[in-house]
Amino acid sequence: MDWKNKIDQDRLPEHIAVIMDGNGRWAKEKGKPRVFGHRNGVKSVREVTEAAAEIGVKYLTLYAFSTENWGRPKLEVSALMRLLVETVYQETNTLMENNIRLQAIGEIDKLPKATYQALLDGIENTKDNDRMTLVLALNYSGRSDLTKAAQNLATQVAEGKIAADDISPELISNHLSTAGMPDPELLIRTSGEARISNFLLWELAYAELFFSPIFWPDFRKPDFYQAIVDYQQRERRFGKISEQIA
Ligand code: IPE
Ligand code: IPE
Ligand code: MG
Repeated sequence: MDWKNKIDQDRLPEHIAVIMDGNGRWAKEKGKPRVFGHRNGVKSVREVTEAAAEIGVKYLTLYAFSTENWGRPKLEVSALMRLLVETVYQETNTLMENNIRLQAIGEIDKLPKATYQALLDGIENTKDNDRMTLVLALNYSGRSDLTKAAQNLATQVAEGKIAADDISPELISNHLSTAGMPDPELLIRTSGEARISNFLLWELAYAELFFSPIFWPDFRKPDFYQAIVDYQQRERRFGKISEQIA
């Protein structure tokens, strides 16, 4: 099936978020260590990034490491942190060739120094690219992000800079790490799991959810395009009724 050709360019999501899941199970099926799955997931990151840029998506956010992922075995965590460093430096070429800007959300300053530095370098080197923004969610969780926003707003109220009544959904959005980005219209999760796992809790309020059975290291451009076609076949009603939408 040529999914790419089925995409309606006039109804393209501006922002797509992806929970890249299933690396460990993919490796296990092959009798390999979990880290082998993470390594093979990098190819999928490249494919999906290119695929999104090719069709004109403006923001692509990839969930790469959650605050809960610190609870994994030490060796897996350190391997993931090293892989991130390698990947950012290796993939900078792809980002430059495709005119893609790198950004990050989450508490990246609390990552190991080398990982943090790689991210800062990647962000700096690609800052003038303007075809698409690739956002890596790292040491990220939706609840932490909302908690930080609440602390920030509470401080502003305490200091008399704003009144409690000034706090609106827009103001909250502007204090999240995704400030300035449109909310994702589409969320894709691979590997057959059907949950949010503390990702973009506020921003996904009205996102269409697409769950793919494919493990992340096997996820390719056509799978990504298929999710977009599926999204375009849905009626987004935002609380209204069908007749009001047409
Ligand atoms: C997703 O794959 C990658 C990260 C969370 C870093 P998993 O590592 O969660 O793979 P499974 O879910 O155990 O198969
Ligand atoms: C979510 O995947 C986090 C990332 C993809 C980075 P997990 O595999 O960690 O999620 P749970 O624990 O199965 O919900
Ligand atoms: Mg998982």
